[in-house]
Amino acid sequence: MSILANCYNNDDLRKAAKRRLPRGVFEFVDRGTEDDVCVHENIASFARIKLRPRMLVDCSVRSQATVIVGKEHPVPMAVAPMGAAGLMWHHGELEAAKAAAAVGVPYALATAAMTPMETIAEKAGGRLWFQLYVRADRELTYRMIDRAKAAGFEGLIVTVDMPVLPNREFNHRNGFGLPYKMTPRSIFDVACKPRWAAEVLGKYLVTQGMPRYENYPENYRKRITGSASSQVAMRTDSITWDDVRALRDRWQGSFLIKGILRPEDAIACHELGADALIVSNHGGRNIDSAVSAIDVLADIARAVGGRIPIMFDSGIRRGSDIVKAIALGACAVLVGRPVLWGTAVDGARGAEHCLRLLQRELDITQGLIGCPRVQDIDGSILC
Ligand code: FNR
Repeated sequence: MSILANCYNNDDLRKAAKRRLPRGVFEFVDRGTEDDVCVHENIASFARIKLRPRMLVDCSVRSQATVIVGKEHPVPMAVAPMGAAGLMWHHGELEAAKAAAAVGVPYALATAAMTPMETIAEKAGGRLWFQLYVRADRELTYRMIDRAKAAGFEGLIVTVDMPVLPNREFNHRNGFGLPYKMTPRSIFDVACKPRWAAEVLGKYLVTQGMPRYENYPENYRKRITGSASSQVAMRTDSITWDDVRALRDRWQGSFLIKGILRPEDAIACHELGADALIVSNHGGRNIDSAVSAIDVLADIARAVGGRIPIMFDSGIRRGSDIVKAIALGACAVLVGRPVLWGTAVDGARGAEHCLRLLQRELDITQGLIGCPRVQDIDGSILC
């Protein structure tokens, strides 16, 4: 029996991914920053939110269809931008993008992906968004989005919550900081997972050498073992609203701003003409003392009053979490780590399994709470 058949939920996928990935790679995905308080709080906050089901509503016909930033999709989900997908599977970004296209949801390709954006556009199809970190060199930043536009990406996500590289001590301990360092520990770590070494790292080494950040501007397209300077230059701590406004003026497609936790910042997103904002604490990967994103969603939704669609991520693990995020004001969610776990287990099949599990759980929850359509879910379903 395939491993996927035994994965009944996303936690099963996580455990299966842990068995396949070298420890440093698994922790790079799984952990947050510093003491991992925020990454756990994101989950705990969801668990504290309770549903109050409506009884005796005809739920014989249920639908998850909804509009996400101007287009109808069969499920209120998108795949979150995550730089490490290429380490889950050989060209893991392409695998995850194919899964998103199969399910009919948008796929966000991270700046730090290891598969060229043109390959994703050509081979995956579906609705594609490119995630951008503003670089110190603004001209290079513009060149990246021009490239995304030429490749056919429909949307741009500007991530604004990581002006400074966070303090992820565990990566250094594991030798899995970027650049990736060959230390006795990291070499042992890889040697313990021969299948990953052969099927992921080995395939890169045979075909192209160490994986590279294929979407960085040419001179910065370093291998993951390259110098830290390309990582540092990938972001800037001088980013302001003026930068985001300049990007909005330059990008004609869907324009989303990711990493919002305050009402006044959400209003600023609306005022500069963004098509959506994403309430997120980056999955607890940046500020360990950050508030759980779900705990500020209602506040933000109230402040923007429907003037701009709100998407949400940070802690989505179950279909019921999607219900909670929608009830608190989101139009859709981004699925993060679970997609990487699925990709690590079985490439596109694993990523699709993850998304289908969430859709199925959402469908069941809708039936049980008396909300046959996504549009029936509102704040009154919560305690
Ligand atoms: C991320 N995330 C992220 N976000 C972003 O805007 N650009 C990026 O390059 C990355 N890279 C990245 C790598 C890995 C390994 C993870 C797990 C996450 C954050 C991501 O888009 C999303 O906000 C979180 O993953 C949501 O939290 P959960 O649901 O995964 O806990």
